[in-house]
Amino acid sequence: MIKTSPSDISKRYVGQQIDVYGLVLHVRDLGRKKFIIITDGKSILQIVYSGSEKVRRGDTIRASGIIKEDPRAPTGLEMVANNITFLSKSIDERFDQWSLRNMNKDKKIKYRALLLRLLEFYKVFEEYANVTQYLREYYRNLGFLEIFTPKVVRMGTESGSEVFSILYFDKDAYLAQSPQLYKQMLMASGIKGVYEVGSYFRAEVSFTPRHLTEFRGFDVEVNYIEDYSEIMKILEDSVKYVLSKLELSYPKEFPVISFKDAKQILQEKYDIRLKDDLSTEAEKALGDYAKKEYDSDLIFIVEFPYDSRPFYTMRKEEDPKYTYSFDLLYKGLEIASGSKREYRYEILIKQIKEKGINPERMKWYLEVFKYGIPPHGGFGLGIDRFVRQLLELQDIREVVLFPRDPDTLEP
Ligand code: 4AD
Ligand code: MG
Repeated sequence: MIKTSPSDISKRYVGQQIDVYGLVLHVRDLGRKKFIIITDGKSILQIVYSGSEKVRRGDTIRASGIIKEDPRAPTGLEMVANNITFLSKSIDERFDQWSLRNMNKDKKIKYRALLLRLLEFYKVFEEYANVTQYLREYYRNLGFLEIFTPKVVRMGTESGSEVFSILYFDKDAYLAQSPQLYKQMLMASGIKGVYEVGSYFRAEVSFTPRHLTEFRGFDVEVNYIEDYSEIMKILEDSVKYVLSKLELSYPKEFPVISFKDAKQILQEKYDIRLKDDLSTEAEKALGDYAKKEYDSDLIFIVEFPYDSRPFYTMRKEEDPKYTYSFDLLYKGLEIASGSKREYRYEILIKQIKEKGINPERMKWYLEVFKYGIPPHGGFGLGIDRFVRQLLELQDIREVVLFPRDPDTLEP
């Protein structure tokens, strides 16, 4: 049975005798009367009680009484309780709402579960859940299949980012950096498209406000792709869907500039020199450029040099130093990368060798390309990064319940 808790209480309960369950956030004891604020994270409720029992912060109670309207109550509604039952007593009532609010960054991670007693922190994770839900919804409505692929894998896939090795019984294995190879292999079924929500692992020793060693990705792979702009369109439409569901505005069309042009703009307007990839400061500058030039928080950078993209990326027909690839930047931060894939068996083998990988190790992946596979492409979107940018928070850890970075393995 789902118990009634503060977020269930609305005006329709006024005058009714009910039971409500919650965790005590705050107690104001006036001797004859107590004003107790209980929470379920999502909402609070004031309980007025004249019993003599001691109520402490952190206690779990079942309060029985009548719901009344009172403009002085924090939510405009309160319960006048005739009985309180203690389901659990707290041992240490150190954490009041103010001490929780004023914690430093490290403590906010350490006491994450307690922090969620406060509405403003609960809201962040509710927004995270909403974003994930709307993305899922969008791709499900397109008729794509939601997939679940292994996170213990035989090899790394994303060049440039480090892998965590693990011992899998007597074999060497790795934690998945992305579902890349699996989502591609499934294209050999002729399916329209697939999507996956998953956790991925990268052994990056960097401490930055945008990197985690375990992050959550929303991955999509689409079949029957003729031009890589088709994939960008799908990504763009799904991002617009999420923003519209959240009642946020978005540009009519996301601006698109090539890596080559971006390089020139960065040099001329921002005195930033690029090699084969975008740097953090380049992403920031391009975010600024998108805002000024196009009044847009979002911008696509396309056709990255082959040298900075993984082996599975298709090279440009007429200029093979560049690729049919793209990044989506949101408020000056990369939130997604994607490309059209190299699906021609012989060329794929050649590219694998060029990137210094032994194709023998990838037979299980390469096989399917021999038996026929449609031209396809896709992208990976970092959910943590997307939500961080959406809420304009300083650090990616603020949107992750139990973040993992090189220093954090607990809680
Ligand atoms: O850009 P990435 O490495 O691309 C891929 O993994 C490809 N397989 C995607 C594809 O389909 N071609 O990762 C995708 C996204 C990034 O844009 C970023 O948002 C997020 O995943 N990401 C991270 N987020 C937090 N911490 C990290 N260490 C991340 N690494 C990637
Ligand atoms: Mg990327």
